[in-house]
Amino acid sequence: MKEKIKALEARVDEALAEVKSGEGLKDFFAKYLGRTGSITALMKEMGNYPKEERPIIGKLINSFRDSVQARFKALEERIAAEELAAKYASEQVDITMPARRTTRGAIHPTNLVRAKLCEVFIGMGFKVYEGREVEDDYHNFTALNTPKDHPARDKQDTFYIAEDVMLRTHTSPGQIHCLETMKPPFKVVMPGRVFRCDDDATHTPMFHQIEGLVIDKNLSLCDLQGLLDTLAKAMFTPETKTRFRPSYFPFTEPSVEVDVSCCECGGVGCRLCKGTGWIEILGGGVVNRRVIENCGLNPDEWSGLAFGAGLDRIAMLKYGINNIHILYDGDQSILRQFRK
Ligand code: DAH
Repeated sequence: MKEKIKALEARVDEALAEVKSGEGLKDFFAKYLGRTGSITALMKEMGNYPKEERPIIGKLINSFRDSVQARFKALEERIAAEELAAKYASEQVDITMPARRTTRGAIHPTNLVRAKLCEVFIGMGFKVYEGREVEDDYHNFTALNTPKDHPARDKQDTFYIAEDVMLRTHTSPGQIHCLETMKPPFKVVMPGRVFRCDDDATHTPMFHQIEGLVIDKNLSLCDLQGLLDTLAKAMFTPETKTRFRPSYFPFTEPSVEVDVSCCECGGVGCRLCKGTGWIEILGGGVVNRRVIENCGLNPDEWSGLAFGAGLDRIAMLKYGINNIHILYDGDQSILRQFRK
């Protein structure tokens, strides 16, 4: 048996010297130390020896196996350390290399204005409602107190999709959807795209509005004034003033147009405000009783405030853009200026 162990030891020495990787370790273990390995096989041979010799032979084999196991373990640790070091070396980042250029986008000015307004209104307890871009005649006009023969329809050149189906000409039909589905009292703003067959330096066939609607008891024009003053100060500067001018919309009574003190000259008068010191930014008013009635609510019980503002127009004023087409030409040299 001694001879056998010696011969095997020589083979083990050679084999261990050959092992260079985790794979090699696995092979070595299977060949010598595993359940079917040569060292394990020695144990099975013990039965061939006389009984009294067996304890001595057993000891010999055990100490041989222990020493091989210890060497195997040491080698295993060394290889693991080497493989880890090699992995780290291969994964090293060359920090002197110039970085790959990434192009950063910018938020479109109209979206900046939309986000800012939503933020201000959410702060005042409003919900944001998206509405729909394709409307029927009832929601876009009739329910808003603008029946078919009403002259106010002529002001809004409508894109029709089918008879009585159109791209919405304003966000006001959102008011009807809210009145039909929400339980009063409520406060909502509705930003979104609107469409009119119109195209010049101050008009594009598609543009953006934000509609506001508050339904509660005993609302008055004073409440609207407070609301819109907060809006103007948040949108422009804390010094911005607002003024109401009487106006007409079929869906509000009384109706107002709201001006802000010119953000360019501060109210002194300049080219932007055409020397008046004021710039119109939106329309609004107290919701017409007929609109509330049309939606099945009692106008003696519930009152409403509404307003609608052009997001593109506010963006143009705020950022000094003099032609609305600049917002939609996709010219990167313009958009780049809005990178944060
Ligand atoms: N819908 C109107 C427009 O597009 C704007 C407007 C005016 C909305 C008065 C309102 C309002 O809610 O009360 O010209």
